[in-house]
Amino acid sequence: MKRKVRKAVIPAAGLGTRFLPATKAIPKEMIPIVDVPMIQHIVEEAVRAGIEDIVLVTARHKEAIENHFDFNYELEDSLEKKNKNDLAEVSRAVGKMCNLISIRQKMPLGLGHAVLTAAPIIGDEPFAILLGDDLIDSTVPCTKQLVDIYERENASVVGVMEVPADEVSKYGIVGGKMLDPRTMHVQNLVEKPAPKDAPSRFAIPGRYVLSPTIFECLRQTKPGKGGEIQLTDGLQLLAERERLLAYQFDGTRYDTGDRLGFIDATISFALRRPDLKSGVQEILRKHLERK
Ligand code: UTP
Repeated sequence: MKRKVRKAVIPAAGLGTRFLPATKAIPKEMIPIVDVPMIQHIVEEAVRAGIEDIVLVTARHKEAIENHFDFNYELEDSLEKKNKNDLAEVSRAVGKMCNLISIRQKMPLGLGHAVLTAAPIIGDEPFAILLGDDLIDSTVPCTKQLVDIYERENASVVGVMEVPADEVSKYGIVGGKMLDPRTMHVQNLVEKPAPKDAPSRFAIPGRYVLSPTIFECLRQTKPGKGGEIQLTDGLQLLAERERLLAYQFDGTRYDTGDRLGFIDATISFALRRPDLKSGVQEILRKHLERK
């Protein structure tokens, strides 16, 4: 089996109900953190990890994502005519960023089903999965950290982070044997357990590098809660058939699918921008003083 990880799947077919009304007419993935759509941050992480082909699992009303990663000739031409070459280049650079292949998930039957929808494009190769609701800020991109482990160990790997006991019920939680302080050989996975049933406090926020065996596992996975095929259930089958690792990645994770997580990411990313930092600090000071 080929071991080099060249492809990634970004499931983006969800309804984005937690962000209504913003997501009524625009895809959640196009909501910006400062001035960069969330999906662009995710694609940039994949590209920095060496991914060449990105498979976008999409749905009706999500065409804006495909347009974003294409050229916009009228816009770029008109910017150039106005001597705004820098802005034309900003637009064009996004068009050149990656080779985007999109496929429709025709019914929202769950994350596991969305990943399975990408099977004909991934074929018999290992691949990364990045969920658009999780922004991970790190020096070495989180996906790159996982790709390195996959290519070294020839084993599927999920990125995990340690969460407080009262938050385990928000995530898929892994259990197994620690191989070193950051790496676990996964034996079982539980989706959103009660704290007393959690096999550990290592939660999966949305980064994976998996062998193509996951597709066979997902085909055998029965629909769970809400009639959806859960990726976690497919991973449980994978862990029974092949070695599955969990790696505590280096980096800060923002849950941008949640309103407060989104605000946190927006402030953090804005404060890191030299052109915005002092202005944002000023605004924050003003609001805090008013309290
Ligand atoms: P979520 O359930 O967290 O996202 O799925 P959502 O449906 O977009 O948002 P809410 O919860 O209604 O606000 C996690 C990821 O899996 C994708 C979503 O697009 C999201 O990136 N997903 C989920 C699919 O692609 N297809 C599905 O059927 C379900």
